[in-house]
Amino acid sequence: MENWLPKIGITLPAAAVQVAPETYFDSSHSDFWLEIGFGKGEHLAAQAAAHPEIGMIGSEPFQNGVSGLIDLVDEGGLSNVRLFQDDARLLMDSLPNASIGRAFILFPDPWPKARHHKRRIVSTGNIAVLSRILKDGAELRIGTDHMEYCRWIMAHMLASSDFVWQCDTPADWRNRPDDWPPSRYEIKSQQAGRVSSYLRFIRRPRSL
Ligand SMILES: C[S@@+](CC[C@H](N)C(=O)[O-])C[C@H]1O[C@@H](n2cnc3c(N)ncnc32)[C@H](O)[C@@H]1O
Repeated sequence: MENWLPKIGITLPAAAVQVAPETYFDSSHSDFWLEIGFGKGEHLAAQAAAHPEIGMIGSEPFQNGVSGLIDLVDEGGLSNVRLFQDDARLLMDSLPNASIGRAFILFPDPWPKARHHKRRIVSTGNIAVLSRILKDGAELRIGTDHMEYCRWIMAHMLASSDFVWQCDTPADWRNRPDDWPPSRYEIKSQQAGRVSSYLRFIRRPRSL
């Protein structure tokens, strides 16, 4: 971990300035994708391996998670991963408008008690930030196995005029798309018999 963090860890500038995602990579990439709360990094590493042309940026404050992702980066020889070991909201605030081509929030903590709902990462404020940093037509993917949080996510996302839910049939949210690798949490949840929802939203084009 000590060897890897100086190479792939993101340190934000002290001043509140915006930093283009390409700044964090040594080579050029066609686009930049962001995963919020990558856990131990299985999904992020699988996406990085499947898309070497993409610069994958992940954020996770949990130290064991960061070392899990570093192991996968090392084993897979992945040169297109960068990680921020802190709260994703700090990283998002530092990203320029329309700089991210896809974002993932997979199995976010549901904070089921009403008095903790303000801690939920899917919130009106964070949706507005995602809307700011996502490019026109960018996809936002959110997975959850928590029915009440799923309803909350849908209500908050549908309340935003910046996103369109990608759903024609129930299969669109009941089945994980082939290009959405499973995460550790999802596999554990499936083994425990819980059912997950796979929500995909497109950032509407900004008006001219
Ligand atoms: C239930 S776990 C899911 C982990 C992983 N996405 C998966 O599906 O296996 C939620 C993760 O989100 C992380 N997390 C919570 N709040 C966060 C925040 N503000 N910024 C970044 N990560 C956060 C937690 O540390 C935890 O690892």
